[in-house]
Amino acid sequence: MHRAEGNGVSEYCSVSGNFMLSDKSILKKIEKLRDDLNYHNYRYYVLNDPVISDTDYDRLMEGLKKLEEQYPELITPTSPTQRIGEELIGGFPSVTHNTLMLSLENTYSEEELREFDKRIGKTLLNERYEYIVELKIDGFAVSLEYRNGRFFRGSTRGNGAVGDEITQNLKTIKSIPLKLITNNSKLMDIEVRGEVFMPRSIFDKLNKRREKEGKSLFANPRNAAAGSIKNINPHIVAGRELDIFIHTVVPPCPFKTHFEAIIGVKEIGFKVMPVLERVKNIDEVLKICNSWQPKRARLDYDIDGMVIKVNRFEQHKRLGETIKSPRWAFAYKFPAEQAVSKIKDILLSVGRTGTITPVAILEPVRLSGSTVSRSTLHNQDEIKRKDIRIGDFVIVEKGGEVIPKVVKVVTDKRMGNEKKFRMPKKCPVCGSELVQYKGEVAIRCINRSCPAQVKGTIEHFASRDAMDIDGLGSVLVAQLVDNGLVKNFSDIYRLKMEDLVALERMGKKSSENLLAAIEESKKRGLSKFIYAIGIRYVGIKAAKLLANSFLSMDNLIHASFEEMETIEEIGPVIAESVLNFFRNRENMKEIERLRTSGIEMEIKGKVKNKVLLKGKKFVLTGALENYTRDEAKELIESLGGSVISSVSKKTDYVVCGENPGSKYGKAKKLGVKIISEEEFKKITGEKFIDK
Ligand code: IVH
Repeated sequence: MHRAEGNGVSEYCSVSGNFMLSDKSILKKIEKLRDDLNYHNYRYYVLNDPVISDTDYDRLMEGLKKLEEQYPELITPTSPTQRIGEELIGGFPSVTHNTLMLSLENTYSEEELREFDKRIGKTLLNERYEYIVELKIDGFAVSLEYRNGRFFRGSTRGNGAVGDEITQNLKTIKSIPLKLITNNSKLMDIEVRGEVFMPRSIFDKLNKRREKEGKSLFANPRNAAAGSIKNINPHIVAGRELDIFIHTVVPPCPFKTHFEAIIGVKEIGFKVMPVLERVKNIDEVLKICNSWQPKRARLDYDIDGMVIKVNRFEQHKRLGETIKSPRWAFAYKFPAEQAVSKIKDILLSVGRTGTITPVAILEPVRLSGSTVSRSTLHNQDEIKRKDIRIGDFVIVEKGGEVIPKVVKVVTDKRMGNEKKFRMPKKCPVCGSELVQYKGEVAIRCINRSCPAQVKGTIEHFASRDAMDIDGLGSVLVAQLVDNGLVKNFSDIYRLKMEDLVALERMGKKSSENLLAAIEESKKRGLSKFIYAIGIRYVGIKAAKLLANSFLSMDNLIHASFEEMETIEEIGPVIAESVLNFFRNRENMKEIERLRTSGIEMEIKGKVKNKVLLKGKKFVLTGALENYTRDEAKELIESLGGSVISSVSKKTDYVVCGENPGSKYGKAKKLGVKIISEEEFKKITGEKFIDK
């Protein structure tokens, strides 16, 4: 933190201006400290214009903490000392949005943007209108609700109708005001929406640290922001240094235009969109949009386009909205960023299934705010098709992935000394003969004990979506395998303190932490375990389906091809692969060893209760992620409830999926309980099912 040095604590005045420090009233003293801290927080995090020094700020905070320690009954949830709350047990509760959180129609084409303008002109019958042009922040959409001037609740977009309540996590973002700087009653109960993001500089730092600790890397700042804001531990969220830009003030509000609204909420404490250009016509819109494309690399946050909004709220009303998006706004997306670099070499990487992937080693080049020095070339066919040679200049492009891709060769820059690349005949790691199966492009090393494959499988087993063993990342896995300590999964559960401390860079503390994380991983549940053991073609989704259908490892081991195939979305390829996996004696022995080490291999307590939903009437709207309509109906009926087609006062629940229809509006109007898929799972007892 760097606040301006100089002004002493006693010299500034608070926003409300008229507080008097009074010895008589502790409460007043506390309130003044809170207001002052809120104001200086605003100067620093929102306006970027601090008026007191770090030391003075810390002194104020210490003063408040001391008083609150003495008088804990005076602590309020929105006190500046309360930004980091307790860990949530049992996940995030659901929030039904008062106004749907829509998304934006978008395009990459100038022509479509002009058509959008024409449509607006037609509806508004040639009356005058202006646009506001903003940056489109590539972040994570959230809603913030204030009651009586205090931050009351924050939530994710979810499916647009129902999101997750993440108030505790949002409170850790310093640019979100906990108390508004206003006494205007029309602004005290406001709802605003915005984009949570992770600045690129913070993202780079975070990934560097994770790499050092051997943890998996976040693909981009958006994923890092999304992954962080949905972490159940607010301490972790606070450490991620997220930020927010507000882009929407939800009506009703005392403003006539979007521009006024954004400036208005900035004045009461919010950090708003950094660019708000007011323009009169579509040519000017395009000029501004195009001018931002080359400038985007210089920003400390990712933008993926521009957003164009009609300015007057009254015109928004007349333009209306479709199920998915408002007709008064549009996103003009930028194409993926590209850069030119030179291929210094092509190396081979051996994946956990033995696939050999050629990787281009590039002259380091800046792209989308980070330095790029490698790029996957996928396989030899791709190299041939694009005629990529060592020494070539190539155009690289970065989409959503960590590793960018080579788009094409800049043939004009060829000098004639570029070298063609040939796939080797032998595995670069273990030296075994490589094979290419019929009908496959991939070339593989089929030696299951190839150290590269062993490392890959162990890394996969320990990864976040699998057994989630914190601290067991690529660097440590490599050390364990190279030192002969781990050959298969079950060896992980036999590791001892003395094995670990003997390794380079492993102290006592990190060894203890790792052993605790290994112990913790035994409780991840059946579906994560099925995913972790790396059965070919069984990804996260298939593992969940298999776990929820068979409920235990033993049932899965004994399942027939036909039984598996009756599960929707489990096809013959997956079923065959599962059967093959369990036919292998080594695999079966390994599962037994893992069982002995205490890994949970069944879903406990899943009992169907015929009376759980007795007499309850359900209406389904929108697409559910984990159930077809028939499955949801069958489940409700098996628990004694019924599904009806239209919403009335007698309806008990409206289950709301992605893109809900008019039933959502009707339910809101009638005050019928609207629940998300997550809540549906809970009330149907599906909470016992692995997630
Ligand atoms: S206005 C009706 N303005 O982009 C939606 N959204 O697909 C009104 N976004 O989920 C949103 N920058 O979270 C708006 N300047 C901006 C934005 C912005 C990013 C996000 C938003 C939304 C998504 C649209």
